[in-house]
Amino acid sequence: MNQPAMSAKKLRLAGVTKSFVAPRTGQTTLAVDDVTLDIEAGEFICIVGPSGCGKSTVLNLIAGLDRPSSGSIEKDGAPITGPGADRGVMFQDYALMPWQTAYDNVGFGLRHGTPGRGFTAQQREERIRHFIDLVGLKGAEKKYPHQLSGGMRQRVALARLLANGPDVLLMDEPLGALDAQTRLILQIELLRIWGQTAPRSERKTAIFITHDIEEAVFLADRVVVMSSHPGRVRAVLDIDLPRPRSESVRADPRFGHLAEEIWELIRDEAYRAIGGSADTASPLPAPVI
Ligand SMILES: Nc1ncnc2c1ncn2[C@@H]1O[C@H](COP(=O)(O)OP(=O)(O)OP(=O)(O)O)[C@@H](O)[C@H]1O
Ligand SMILES: [Mg+2]
Repeated sequence: MNQPAMSAKKLRLAGVTKSFVAPRTGQTTLAVDDVTLDIEAGEFICIVGPSGCGKSTVLNLIAGLDRPSSGSIEKDGAPITGPGADRGVMFQDYALMPWQTAYDNVGFGLRHGTPGRGFTAQQREERIRHFIDLVGLKGAEKKYPHQLSGGMRQRVALARLLANGPDVLLMDEPLGALDAQTRLILQIELLRIWGQTAPRSERKTAIFITHDIEEAVFLADRVVVMSSHPGRVRAVLDIDLPRPRSESVRADPRFGHLAEEIWELIRDEAYRAIGGSADTASPLPAPVI
């Protein structure tokens, strides 16, 4: 019997390798080596690992912004050959257009790109307003990015991402530039918007890069731990904490154990990356790498 199409993995990375060649010296950097990973529809995946281990490279390959040197990346059973509105990307630095209001930033893809096809002007407007409300930006529509706080700018970036209707969210340290309190609030908001109270079939598929181990444990269904030189998948941990998650999950002993386990996997390399030694350092888990 034929398997239904739904059984295809949302994303399938098989033996993905990426090398960069420096134009002047010709020196080759193996940024990502033999990464194999299957991601189910509706999963929230966090990727952690020391600086330079290839996290952004993997994300860019899934986004179609770059091509693997070898191996394959498929979405819904079809090879990824370039960027597409089905995969939305969000970066640490907001990447908003400073000369446009929050409203116009959110609506940019709908007005000027393929995501707006098939919508009337009024439907586009309703959609922009819907996502502005969803991320809690009502009242700030007419403000320009420089008039917004970092947290609000990142909400604009999130609303813009969602307004384009992707089914895969690719986020590269999106909360990294925010203060600690705003970051905690946006983690909860992100889980709400991703759909943690909805059945898995209604959730988006999310891939989220972070240096904050506790953030990864709080958000993820699975945490992919990468190691560097070359960038490889070192371990994939199931985060079997109940959903929906709220602040109280941080007090669950399993939360601390998982964070500690991840830190153990990374600490030697994390210290090496900053020129230190893990031998002389505290054995306690460090939340941010
Ligand atoms: N366009 C490029 N050209 C040459 N080398 C690159 C390029 N992009 C990345 N690299 C190299 O590939 C490796 C992985 O880089 P990448 O940016 O993916 O790491 P990362 O894990 O995202 O690091 P960070 O945590 O600091 O953001 C690094 O050695 C980096 O210098
Ligand atoms: Mg990066």
